[in-house]
Amino acid sequence: MNGTVVKNKEICAGHFLLSVKLPESFKTPMPGQFVMTRETGRIDPLLGRPFGVYHFEKSENEATVEILYKVVGKGTLILSRLREGDFVEVLGPYGRAFDVYPEAGRVVFICGGIGVAPITYLASHYKRLTGARNVKLVCYYGANKAENLVGIEIIKKICSDVFISTDDGSAGFHGLITERFSEDISSYDPGSSKIYACGPRSMFKQLSELLAENPISCQILMEERMACGVGACLGCTVLLKDGEGRGGHARACIDGPVFNIGDIHWG
Ligand SMILES: Cc1cc2nc3c(=O)[nH]c(=O)nc-3n(C[C@H](O)[C@H](O)[C@H](O)COP(=O)(O)OP(=O)(O)OC[C@H]3O[C@@H](n4cnc5c(N)ncnc54)[C@H](O)[C@@H]3O)c2cc1C
Ligand code: FES
Repeated sequence: MNGTVVKNKEICAGHFLLSVKLPESFKTPMPGQFVMTRETGRIDPLLGRPFGVYHFEKSENEATVEILYKVVGKGTLILSRLREGDFVEVLGPYGRAFDVYPEAGRVVFICGGIGVAPITYLASHYKRLTGARNVKLVCYYGANKAENLVGIEIIKKICSDVFISTDDGSAGFHGLITERFSEDISSYDPGSSKIYACGPRSMFKQLSELLAENPISCQILMEERMACGVGACLGCTVLLKDGEGRGGHARACIDGPVFNIGDIHWG
């Protein structure tokens, strides 16, 4: 579907917030689903790039999707040059959404870097859903340095407890967010806590090791490289643990991008 850029602002070095106006008929994404985005009409690169949804709202006549992204290569560099009024293609929403548990006692979000983007959408959803109920929303958010803790103000508004880490020690705990989380993990009751995570593969691997000793339900959003985004090219294959009954492989675009952390083979 074609949309129009409302704003595309650099909020800290190399990190942009893109806001796109879409027709009202665009389906509301469930937290965890993604969109394929590219500049309308551009043939190099031909394929869109997958992004989680950071914010979405509908009014009577239109919908607005917000994407929080980091420039890492050609596709994201081209996106970063879009200006107000430019046309952009937004396809989706695609993929498997997070399972949500409004009856959970404590909900823990773990974000590594730009993984905060889709987690913020999920956390807002939980906030709306649980409303006045006494559900504790907790966030662990790690970045390489303080100024790259993008969207931290919004996370602080949503969650009652926010723990920060930075690789260089410029804010919060000095080290990895999984190390910070490991200090608290035993305080979470496996029966009433739910964990959601998004970040680099190395973060997932460390988290899976922590959870092997402290089995708490954990769903992750895997930001795998994608080409078609709709299950046709096998470009986003994820290796599953043996015995999953899916031939040992899954496609992140249609079987995911949300998976149970325990289903993935981390190598
Ligand atoms: C479901 C999903 C949701 C995502 N949500 C977001 C989001 O909200 N915000 C955001 O900034 N990014 C998100 N991503 C990642 C984003 O899609 C990639 O950063 C983007 O496709 C890179 O395109 P490019 O053309 O700029 O980089 P390329 O030129 O394709 O690659 C440049 C460099 O980045 C590396 N790279 C590219 N894609 C990935 C990737 N997926 N994982 C790790 N390394 C990669 C390449 O190996 C290469 O070194 C998401 C990915 C998926 C699958
Ligand atoms: S991106 Fe083509 S099969 Fe998943």
